[in-house]
Amino acid sequence: MIKTENLVKRFDADTYIKYKDVTFETGESYVLLGASGCGKSTLLNMIAGVITPSEGRICFDGAEISSMPQKKKDKFRIEKIGYIFQDFKLIEEMTVADNIDILKLEGVRTDRMDEVLSALGILSKKKKKVSKLSGGERQRVAIARAFVKAPDIILADEPTGNLNYEIGSSVVKQMLEIARGKTLIAVTHDDRLAPLFDHVVDMNAIASSYDESGVSGND
Ligand SMILES: Nc1ncnc2c1ncn2[C@@H]1O[C@H](COP(=O)(O)OP(=O)(O)OP(=O)(O)O)[C@@H](O)[C@H]1O
Ligand SMILES: [Mg+2]
Repeated sequence: MIKTENLVKRFDADTYIKYKDVTFETGESYVLLGASGCGKSTLLNMIAGVITPSEGRICFDGAEISSMPQKKKDKFRIEKIGYIFQDFKLIEEMTVADNIDILKLEGVRTDRMDEVLSALGILSKKKKKVSKLSGGERQRVAIARAFVKAPDIILADEPTGNLNYEIGSSVVKQMLEIARGKTLIAVTHDDRLAPLFDHVVDMNAIASSYDESGVSGND
């Protein structure tokens, strides 16, 4: 179970985002819906330990991860979290296999690569350069890379951002299938995809932005 408590992320002296507390139960899937800029990626980045909350805490199964030293946070992320970034972070000039094998640099085993690529229907693309793939195929490579290490928690930031509804929903269904039993937190702009998940989290109601230099945000 992931629990956030009194989270605040400050970007500078005047601007910050305040979050109402949220709980993500183990083995359930969640989709975060909300306006652009409301703070969805920022929340995922705090859960992943990529950025540190300015106030409040994040607990995973009762242990506070947000206050761990960065090294311990990195270890936690590498072992437990699969993160599909909003911009994928794939290396265009490398093959699909090499983009996944890059995880070995962090000590992650990639033995499950073929199994995961096959579950996502892209095993035949394994030796292809990412630059030669379609948008939907790239998205599935990013998903495969997050799943290869069998993470307990999957964070997926707009995993279907550039796809049309048909392909987007088929990618989401494949992702939910391989995420069974894990905690999945996904972001999407497409509310038609929301019914595929166990829970919908309305981020417009959870996150409030403040800009005290003059203009106020969505609160
Ligand atoms: N490093 C940063 N420095 C300053 N402001 C930031 C930084 N990162 C995010 N923000 C601001 O925080 C707000 C939330 O950003 P975030 O990326 O979490 O939004 P989002 O909900 O993921 O939006 P989108 O749907 O467009 O991806 C935005 O107003 C953004 O400009
Ligand atoms: Mg975002």
